[in-house]
Amino acid sequence: MREFIYFSKNARTSGNFNTKKLMDAGRMDIVIHSIISALFLSNRMREDVKLHLIFYGQPTPPRHLEFDSSKKIPISKKDVAGLIKRMLYKYKENRKNEVFPGCFIEKKNLMQLINELKKQGEEIYILDKKGEDIRNMKLKKKCVFLLGDHDGLPRKELKRLKKQCKFISIGKKTYFTSQTIVIVNNELDRRE
Ligand SMILES: C[S@@+](CC[C@H](N)C(=O)[O-])C[C@H]1O[C@@H](n2cnc3c(N)ncnc32)[C@H](O)[C@@H]1O
Repeated sequence: MREFIYFSKNARTSGNFNTKKLMDAGRMDIVIHSIISALFLSNRMREDVKLHLIFYGQPTPPRHLEFDSSKKIPISKKDVAGLIKRMLYKYKENRKNEVFPGCFIEKKNLMQLINELKKQGEEIYILDKKGEDIRNMKLKKKCVFLLGDHDGLPRKELKRLKKQCKFISIGKKTYFTSQTIVIVNNELDRRE
């Protein structure tokens, strides 16, 4: 199982956003591209990916949305925004709610999620163009890749994570978040 964490400081934490104005919902357009890049191949869904979305936007941050592609997620590429809206609306206090098969929502911040994954024995890699070249790295079997949205990753958390995580690069150019996910997925596919 490979895992990605997408962090956004502005993505809306309520389902009441306009699906025709995704850029105004804390760049929900980038979230959607990232979901498609993480979970889909051309003719089928991947079955070995967990995607975590951490949203710090208004009105009720933080939110952790999790997609587990080993389950039959009822997702259509045409209505990913609708799925996110429904998940945000179905948040339940004090528990991780499985809204649809493989689709969970709960209140959790970035550091809590990372600490939880580390306890499960996962190696956390921070995607950063100044990191070590992915092509020269041996990756652990249980690995998690952390990425930011167009604003990148939060400085405060990055400072704390420096000591516990490896910084990993896919090259010197700056890619979209969704492009970065495609490249990492491809790199892992080729290693299998
Ligand atoms: C559009 S970039 C963010 C750009 C933002 N201005 C910054 O400086 O972080 C979105 C995310 O993709 C990842 N990314 C983009 N290019 C990368 C590269 N060459 N190597 C590794 N990760 C990259 C990073 O995680 C980044 O936070």
